[in-house]
Amino acid sequence: MRALLIGGGGREHAIGLSIVKSGAELVVISVNKNPGLQRISRKIVVGDENDSEWVLKNALKLKPDYVFIGPEAPLAHGVSDILLENGFNVFAPSSTAAKLETSKVYCRKFLSENKIGGNIESTSFSDPDRAADFIDGLEYDFVIKPDGLTGGKGVVVQGVHFSSKEDGAKIARDYLSSGKSALLIEKKMVGEEFSLQAFVKGKKIYFLPIVQDYKRAYENDTGPNTGGMGSICYSERGLPFIDFETVVKAKGIMEELVAKFAEKIVDYVGPIYGGFISTSDGPKLLEINARLGDPEAMNVLSLMENSMMDVAIMMLHDREINPEFRNRINVLRYLVPKGYGSKPEPSAIQMDEEEILLKDLKIYYASVHLKGKHLEQTNSRSIALVSEGNDLREISRRFDGLSPLLRGSYYMRNDIGTEKMIEDKKNFMSRVMAGIA
Ligand code: GLY
Repeated sequence: MRALLIGGGGREHAIGLSIVKSGAELVVISVNKNPGLQRISRKIVVGDENDSEWVLKNALKLKPDYVFIGPEAPLAHGVSDILLENGFNVFAPSSTAAKLETSKVYCRKFLSENKIGGNIESTSFSDPDRAADFIDGLEYDFVIKPDGLTGGKGVVVQGVHFSSKEDGAKIARDYLSSGKSALLIEKKMVGEEFSLQAFVKGKKIYFLPIVQDYKRAYENDTGPNTGGMGSICYSERGLPFIDFETVVKAKGIMEELVAKFAEKIVDYVGPIYGGFISTSDGPKLLEINARLGDPEAMNVLSLMENSMMDVAIMMLHDREINPEFRNRINVLRYLVPKGYGSKPEPSAIQMDEEEILLKDLKIYYASVHLKGKHLEQTNSRSIALVSEGNDLREISRRFDGLSPLLRGSYYMRNDIGTEKMIEDKKNFMSRVMAGIA
């Protein structure tokens, strides 16, 4: 069996590792040569993974039995469509299904027209004056979300990224005057966020354990938004600050969504990701992504005993699957270039991989190039380290003493997955549920 994987980041390294667990041969099409994927694949074809005609030409040469697409951009550019039209078995959504991610306006419209639970008060605008007038009349804190893909960096929140209504109105005006065709203004929700990922085929949905992702660049959730600086997962136990009932309701919302989508639009196929926030009024759906999360994929796939290849084969043939997860906690911290999130200053780093593995950390390569013994960083996230165990203190301790093993300039958030962080979140959620946060 041969699997073709499109994409070359940390998430794709995790997908690749999961695929090869089945014994399948892996080939990759990607804009970069991920050093982790280089080791486990037969071949990496480097080029524009968003150019659907070029991807098709290469897929026809590579002759894979199954195709996996990691990132969202190839979906938006019709890569899954052209491969499906040419008879490939693709475990990823069509561009029509991926609109749930690629257009936030479309997603909200679908949720509200079909009365899917967990929806948030949200209004779309394409005219800068109307957006500014609407903001002027608001009596609650709000969030501005540009339509279209923003790599997780486009959403701005009152009280976090801007303070006054006037500042918000200026941001909305700037977005709409700088080429963005539409945006959403949504009521700000208060609570803790969690990512609920699943594998889907039509109305069938299999959930993965929930994960929390840390999007802000600096410790204590400060600084600019990023693609994600790290993440935590407690396997099927769920997160200690998100109650069980909330997760059950969130799963119900996702089930309702994919069932209605199959009924009204098209069968959704492949991984899906619901970005939720747990509030005093139950779980609210912040966004849908038509893929696994990065970093969340690394948390769940490293705990999943099954291979993603087997999952895809079974699901594409309408067979039942039984995903099983090690009952352990894992904490992921991303190494990024200094200044990532605002003004990245990529440089070379030298990693003593053997010693890091001896510390019982897993390594996932993301946006780095191997140059001799060095890893050249880019403007994006470089390397993810994952620590797994049963005790948070022991899990965090493995991240200590890394500097002799990782020489060069980089930044990593050291607060992710610490006992203090978890306690703070539990206390915060108690206040949220009591209506005093
Ligand atoms: N970690 C957020 C995302 O993948 O969109």
